[in-house]
Amino acid sequence: MCGIIGYTGPRKAAPILIEGLKRLEYRGYDSAGIGVGCDGALTICKKVGKIKDLREAVPDDLDGCYGIGHTRWATHGGVTDVNAHPHTDTTGNLAIAHNGIIENYLILKARLEAEGITFRTETDSEVIAHLIAQHYEGDLEAAVRKALPLLKGTYGIVCLHKGNPQLIIGARSGSPLVVGVGEDEMFLASDVTAVLAHTKQVVYLEDGEVVVLTEKDFHITDLNERKISKTIDEISWELEEIEKGDFKHYMVKEIYEQPEAIERACRGRLDPTQATARLGGLNLSPAQLLDVERIRIIAAGTSYYAGLVGSYLIEQLARIPCQAELASEVRYRNPIVERNTLHFAVSQSGETADTLYAMRELQRKGSCVLGICNVVGSTIARESNGGVYIHSGPEIAVASTKAFSSQVTAFYLFCLLMARKRHMSYETGEWFLQELTVIPEAVKAVLKTEPVIKKLAKKYAGYKDFLFLGRGINYPVALEGALKLKEIAYIHAEGYSAAEIKHGPIALINEETPSMFLVPDDRLREKVISNMKEVKARRGKLIAVVGEGDDEIREIADDVIEVPRVHTLFSPFVMVVPLQLFAYHCAVLLGRDVDQPRNLAKSVTVE
Ligand code: G6P
Repeated sequence: MCGIIGYTGPRKAAPILIEGLKRLEYRGYDSAGIGVGCDGALTICKKVGKIKDLREAVPDDLDGCYGIGHTRWATHGGVTDVNAHPHTDTTGNLAIAHNGIIENYLILKARLEAEGITFRTETDSEVIAHLIAQHYEGDLEAAVRKALPLLKGTYGIVCLHKGNPQLIIGARSGSPLVVGVGEDEMFLASDVTAVLAHTKQVVYLEDGEVVVLTEKDFHITDLNERKISKTIDEISWELEEIEKGDFKHYMVKEIYEQPEAIERACRGRLDPTQATARLGGLNLSPAQLLDVERIRIIAAGTSYYAGLVGSYLIEQLARIPCQAELASEVRYRNPIVERNTLHFAVSQSGETADTLYAMRELQRKGSCVLGICNVVGSTIARESNGGVYIHSGPEIAVASTKAFSSQVTAFYLFCLLMARKRHMSYETGEWFLQELTVIPEAVKAVLKTEPVIKKLAKKYAGYKDFLFLGRGINYPVALEGALKLKEIAYIHAEGYSAAEIKHGPIALINEETPSMFLVPDDRLREKVISNMKEVKARRGKLIAVVGEGDDEIREIADDVIEVPRVHTLFSPFVMVVPLQLFAYHCAVLLGRDVDQPRNLAKSVTVE
């Protein structure tokens, strides 16, 4: 969602801020703006649309070596130039940019209006500018400190004042901020991608912390002005990883990175001598792992579907009751926390508000919550009681692809570890490792079917409704396939268990509603074939994803996509890729904005 960038140093701020905002585009936004201070003046430029529209609106000769920038994803107030950030106080001396939601803004606004302040925007964020200005007596840091306790809700704030040259102040409560420590220059951003082109040295802010940046230095304190010393972390991502390279879109680049992503998630974690997996970050002793009686996985979006795959696998192989649930639902239903239940919070970004708040609620109730995250230093990664980094590398496209495969891999490793601690034999453990090790090659082989999938996309992109159907461990994959088509092609699609179609969705079937069936060679195959025939009898078009050389299905389906034959329990890895590519090519053919689909955000930091 919204992105923040701040800069102070010897260089011209405007191009650095705009480049930083460009890097934050992937988070999803509808307008953007910058505020730059120079020689006692403050210039604000803001624009609805893309960063290129903002770039055109910024004068080439805009000087000034300190400034702030923001990409806005509208929550309070329409998508207009005026509502875009930064927001200023009535004098125009001070500017702020804000991520998050100020829940008590209506009360604050009424009070400020009663005091004679005229509001110019419909946003909740504008109150912050006025509150800081009210407390400003020449010292911006002091003014911010006085304003912060008045705010209820979530915020990542960055601000500057024309009376305090080269000074940038940031504060965080529930919305991430990271300091980029450069050579004689400092950055502040909502995530590391915005600063990676300039520095790899970063310091993550915690909730309740205030940071003051000057050109050469920074210091962090808590709300009571106690100094906090922090370690500087080194970002492991490379700049090339956040660039498209030769690919047309980030999404297809990331689809192609999946074999490597699966390998990275496994690296250093396979233990062939014991036929098990090693996951040091879990922070649980062997005895604690043995005590686990139940597992609950919480997540949102694609991460939830990865968790569902994990739940099928864990129940089947580790024989531990395991449930995956939507984090947003868990949080508000007063979840029951039982002894010896292990929780996983799964999140690529590690910042999804629904997942984070549900995790906190479970922790408040005394449970141990492990994180499965991609972004190192993200809030869920830091606040969880341990976990597994999936090491996918940066995922920039809004629609998640490689993170799904890596999250699923993390569950496979965890499942092996738990199963081997219980009843799984050494030989079965060896078999499991063997199956897992061939997956990257199998996924590479699926990628080679892209021309076939592209052709199918041409044939089917014009349809308005789709069904995605799978069973068992591929039921979540069907859900993920439908989500991908909705997200980036804007085609209405429903994911169902193939068995369920007779309980409702079959009413939708006619020649206008194609169905994509996932048909691995497993014990449910005959039943799925019957479901396919039911669809065919009603003139529904059939596309099937099948194992190589499956002539029986070729006879029934209108079109087939063949994937390498792997054991059914490992089939989600190969089944999901054609669905990602199908959605991608439909979206391209329909002229969609593949990497930044309308209305969506990569990291959803509000509920
Ligand atoms: C948003 C994104 C999805 C993502 C979901 C969960 O909705 O658009 O692609 O799956 O959030 O994100 P997370 O970072 O928690 O995995």
